[in-house]
Amino acid sequence: MKAVKKILIALAVLFIAIQFIPSGIPENNSEDKNSIAHSNLMAGPVLEQMRKSCFDCHSNQVQFPWYSKMAPSSWLLANHIREGKSHLNFSEWEAYSNREKIGLLEDIKDEVGSGKMPLKSYLLIHRDAKWNAEEISALVKWAEEAAAKIME
Ligand code: HEC
Repeated sequence: MKAVKKILIALAVLFIAIQFIPSGIPENNSEDKNSIAHSNLMAGPVLEQMRKSCFDCHSNQVQFPWYSKMAPSSWLLANHIREGKSHLNFSEWEAYSNREKIGLLEDIKDEVGSGKMPLKSYLLIHRDAKWNAEEISALVKWAEEAAAKIME
């Protein structure tokens, strides 16, 4: 019994200690003038859905619940955000070239259409981030129209 107690105390101490290691979750940037939200491409319902289910890993406006800010899950998350933003950052949308935007719209369509995005681990804690069939077809339509608009 004594050993179990010691192990539990050691685990608790370890858990508290790791909270002091910086997670690397990036600071939110309130300056968001290059955001896709301000571009002429963004339609209401699709934007709302993307805000809910993509912006936490693909923008400078990240909103995670408190329990995801706790180590060690926060490390995983910080990694997702870093990785996600390096592929696609909706907050820096206007800084992409037209060719990049068109490529990204194609990727967005593929990723959401095939159910690869949002990441499964994210859906576990964000049930409302899941897209239903209707929302997916709205997104596909939006992405096609947006690409056509860019090519004009
Ligand atoms: C929990 C974090 C997270 C969420 C939420 C998320 N993504 Fe991602 N996304 C990533 C990571 C990590 C990568 C890079 C690794 C990969 O492709 O799996 C990525 C990659 C991508 C890529 C690039 C794929 C490629 O082939 O280069 C696209 C496009 C994308 N995500 C779109 C989206 C869209 C659209 C949403 C919302 C519906 C979304 N993601 C939600 C983490 C996330």
